[in-house]
Amino acid sequence: MTDRITITRPDDWHLHLRDEAMLAAVTPDTAWHFGRALIMPNLVPPVVTRDEAIAYRQRIMAACPAGADFTPMMTLYLTEGTDADDLVGAARDGVITAVKLYPAGATTNSASGVRDIDKVMPVLEAMADSGVPLCVHGEVTDSDVDIFDREAVFIDRVLDPLRRRLPALCVVMEHVTTSDGIDYVRGGGDSIAATLTTHHLFINRNHMLAGGIRPHYYCLPVAKRETHRKALVAAAISGDSSFFLGTDSAPHLDSAKLAPCGCAGIYTSPNTLACLAQIFDQHDALDRLDGFVALHGAAFYEVPVNDGTVTLERTEEAQPVPQDRVTPEGMLTVFDPMVPIHWKVAG
Ligand code: DOR
Ligand code: ZN
Repeated sequence: MTDRITITRPDDWHLHLRDEAMLAAVTPDTAWHFGRALIMPNLVPPVVTRDEAIAYRQRIMAACPAGADFTPMMTLYLTEGTDADDLVGAARDGVITAVKLYPAGATTNSASGVRDIDKVMPVLEAMADSGVPLCVHGEVTDSDVDIFDREAVFIDRVLDPLRRRLPALCVVMEHVTTSDGIDYVRGGGDSIAATLTTHHLFINRNHMLAGGIRPHYYCLPVAKRETHRKALVAAAISGDSSFFLGTDSAPHLDSAKLAPCGCAGIYTSPNTLACLAQIFDQHDALDRLDGFVALHGAAFYEVPVNDGTVTLERTEEAQPVPQDRVTPEGMLTVFDPMVPIHWKVAG
């Protein structure tokens, strides 16, 4: 039995750090163990321009603990008013790594997102020509589409037509939650990949809704039925380089989660690596953890793998869920995977 595993210092290819007090509270949880993270731009107001990305990057660096070896990789938030030249220039100069498409109304702070994809077609064409990857929140928002079907419908109505129109566009389907998404990415060739979150590998919709409503498991895309969760786990442990980690760790204060209309988002940064080691171990796939957390994403984004390593060790006793974070504005609950975790990051 393997009791210790050393992996390449990993990357988180989908992370929310927020701003101000929350930024200060959560950045260390990622910066200690991850080499890089792709930072989501859904602030209020969103990060739309090159200059805003530069300023946000500086605020993130200021929140990093001294001595942490962490590089934030920035994204821009695509709006119907985005300036293609500003965006392409920011990518060319290494200010940004990707652009995020939020369908308007799909999730937290997505009101400035895209209502009509035709309106952003010139920007998407410029991105395809210049090799700038597009990260998509892959859900339609039409009120007549059931929330559990929104990802599958997005693939049919938006994503597949877009990729047929712009075959050169590199797309990351973020936080895939369905077997439909997995199948689409598997058959999609080199220009498409998908991130998988930690929490969607652990929870299905019963965790959120059976026996009481558990707001700390509410996220978007919403967790689906167990057959879908199993398809996600199979993809994560498969060694297929189209799939890599993007935690979508999305901190919200408890006061915002435990409300009549609670926010979507699960805070997984503190225990993501331990949880992933547990699930890969359970499936006899520890040898593929490195690919999922450190190699596949770097290859897709065409960046070198990180220097350095992280060692995880198995523990006889189950590890407690990390303590909830105390922020100046209130408490922040850490993801409870609801199964015993016998792994931890070594000292
Ligand atoms: O659960 C989520 N939370 N999903 C998202 O797409 C956004 C995120 C957030 O920003 O809170
Ligand atoms: Zn997200």
